[in-house]
Amino acid sequence: MASCDDQVFNPPENVSKKAHCSSMEQYKEMHARSIKYPEAFWGDIAKEFYFDQPVPGKFLDYNFDVSKGPVYVKWLEGGRTNICYNCLDKHVLAGKGDQIAFYWEGNDPADTDSVTFSELLSDVCRVGNYLQSHGVNKGDTVAIYMPMIKELVVAMLAVARIGAVHNIVFGGYSSDSLAERMLDSSASVLICADGVWRANKLVHLKEIADEALSLCRQRGLDVRLSLVVQHMARVTHPPSLHDAINGHPAKKTHFDDKLNYKVSWNSSVDVWWEEAVSSASDQCPVVWVDAEDPLFILYTSGSTGKPKGVLHTVGGYMLYSATTFKYSFDYHPGDVYFCTADIGWITGHSYVTYGPLLNGATSVLFEGVPTYPHTGRFWEIIQKYKVSKFYTAPTAIRTLMKFGDDPVKKYDLSSLTVLGTVGEPINPEAWLWYHRVVGGGNAAVVDTFWQTETGGHVITPLPGATPTKPGSACFPFFGISVCLLDESGEEVLGEGEGYLVFRQPWPGMMRTIYKNHQRFQTTYFQKFPGYYCTGDGARRDKDGYIWVTGRIDDMLNVSGHLLSTAQVESALLEVEQVAEAAVVARPHPVKGECLHCFVTLKEGGKFTDALVTDMKNKVRGKIGPFAQPDYLQLAPGLPKTRSGKIMRRVLRKIAVGDRDFGDISTLADPSVVEILFQHRPANA
Ligand code: WTA
Repeated sequence: MASCDDQVFNPPENVSKKAHCSSMEQYKEMHARSIKYPEAFWGDIAKEFYFDQPVPGKFLDYNFDVSKGPVYVKWLEGGRTNICYNCLDKHVLAGKGDQIAFYWEGNDPADTDSVTFSELLSDVCRVGNYLQSHGVNKGDTVAIYMPMIKELVVAMLAVARIGAVHNIVFGGYSSDSLAERMLDSSASVLICADGVWRANKLVHLKEIADEALSLCRQRGLDVRLSLVVQHMARVTHPPSLHDAINGHPAKKTHFDDKLNYKVSWNSSVDVWWEEAVSSASDQCPVVWVDAEDPLFILYTSGSTGKPKGVLHTVGGYMLYSATTFKYSFDYHPGDVYFCTADIGWITGHSYVTYGPLLNGATSVLFEGVPTYPHTGRFWEIIQKYKVSKFYTAPTAIRTLMKFGDDPVKKYDLSSLTVLGTVGEPINPEAWLWYHRVVGGGNAAVVDTFWQTETGGHVITPLPGATPTKPGSACFPFFGISVCLLDESGEEVLGEGEGYLVFRQPWPGMMRTIYKNHQRFQTTYFQKFPGYYCTGDGARRDKDGYIWVTGRIDDMLNVSGHLLSTAQVESALLEVEQVAEAAVVARPHPVKGECLHCFVTLKEGGKFTDALVTDMKNKVRGKIGPFAQPDYLQLAPGLPKTRSGKIMRRVLRKIAVGDRDFGDISTLADPSVVEILFQHRPANA
């Protein structure tokens, strides 16, 4: 890695020329002010937003130090606002109602649509009215399980408009995961869609939602309304569907003879979205809320296996998602912005919906995948809409790199000026390809480090100011005071490596784990009192650049999706024959990391292909298809210490075929290491 420390790319001149932050001097000055005078810094920014009632007292109040009492963070408390108003009404009132808010690109390139700010506002009002008339009040949680369609944005903004709280569950999650999240957040209303094509695979969202609702009912949560968008009737089916129907009548189950998609219907809870909104009024007064009222809960993996309901509040999140969007992508009116993340993840919350809309931006909302119907799909979209700012994940870049430069070069990508990445460390090779081939060497690459918990970018280059190094997220955003700590909590000054922590609060940070403040304190503040602990490790190089090295807890990052080892292990343990399981991350050329599972079977159990399939299906079913293990290895025993703790570092070595196990003398039975090493699976 050391050689990358010296490879520097200066900000492109055309970007710097008109950038909001156009030099390192300006960045340093603004950053210093944001740290020293956070209230003044964010106070100025707050003036750009509409507050129905200004902040009456303290702009910031907090305690970061558990040893002094409960941890809390409050920004703009007592100020009254509404994020939906700031996303929509504000722009419509300013005469921007006819501007496109979203161009929609379906899974099939033939399916396209667009929506203006005023159309979005009318739709949001209709849904807001409908929800209110069905008993959704301020503070209630509404679960959302939808594909990347305009109605997803409408749903979340409608919930925010009426002061309710959204809990969006990524449409790739299984019914178990959806139910678990609905139960934990007590969501008694669900908004979903009938189904969606992902490439030529059909995801039966309504069927999964139905299973989740029945699980919720079994466990005592009575979901009283399920609002269903009829999406399948308006999209183009992939050619393979026609083949499937002709060739395999068995596959017809979800379609009638005219290729109409069929769903089961429970008329006591199910309501078609289209019918619900058609009669609702398009005027819906805003419910003004306190800046510290909850805006959303979004679940993220936790190292115990139980997902954490990360709670964000209205005011601080609004300021932070908007400001990071403006500076990290150097947004200007006239830009066309395209973020490929699903709204079901935090990146979609902050940088598909809120950040862009708060800035009045025009974006592309994309339903499909990068490789369907061809491997140039992203580039085709960029050319079509003249996208100037593009934001995707390293795993997508690596997937597309495999096809070489030709699919990119077919398209005119000269509109691009900023290229962002997020989700996992980006390897310099992928960074350089992104810069050279996609950006033609003329665009700024911004590697944005952040988390569900941080609400927005916390370490990132600024396109017009920061000389970048491939693979480094560079420097802290405004308001972020970065610090590296060693195991004993001492600060690592200058060059060195340590735990990545932050010294003081920023407006967009999470406020708690829903219904579990204790876990919030233990997870983020216990290890190093006085600091927010990210759970990532990082290195500072001789020039002060930050290089995030990855998770230092039992978390895995598969294609930018965080998973905990415990979560996967408990899924495997549900397979009848499995006695014990230990899961570690193993490097993967496209996904970044993949899962390598060591499995011990019960007496008499046989490690057959059928069992392997069962285990894979169990993980897919309990968590979601993206969590499917790549490697499953039979383990006659697991390397455990005498106190019974599995030594994962040894398993990680075995997984990659590295004999450098370190000290294994504390193992109860060191011989098991060699056995596992000898029998490790070849490449999957
Ligand atoms: C990892 C996604 C290196 C990191 C926004 C973090 C990154 C976790 C980067 C959060 C990056 C995200 N460089 N690592 N640019 N971005 N990560 O909550 O381990 O899904 O803690 O939020 O992803 O994942 P989450």
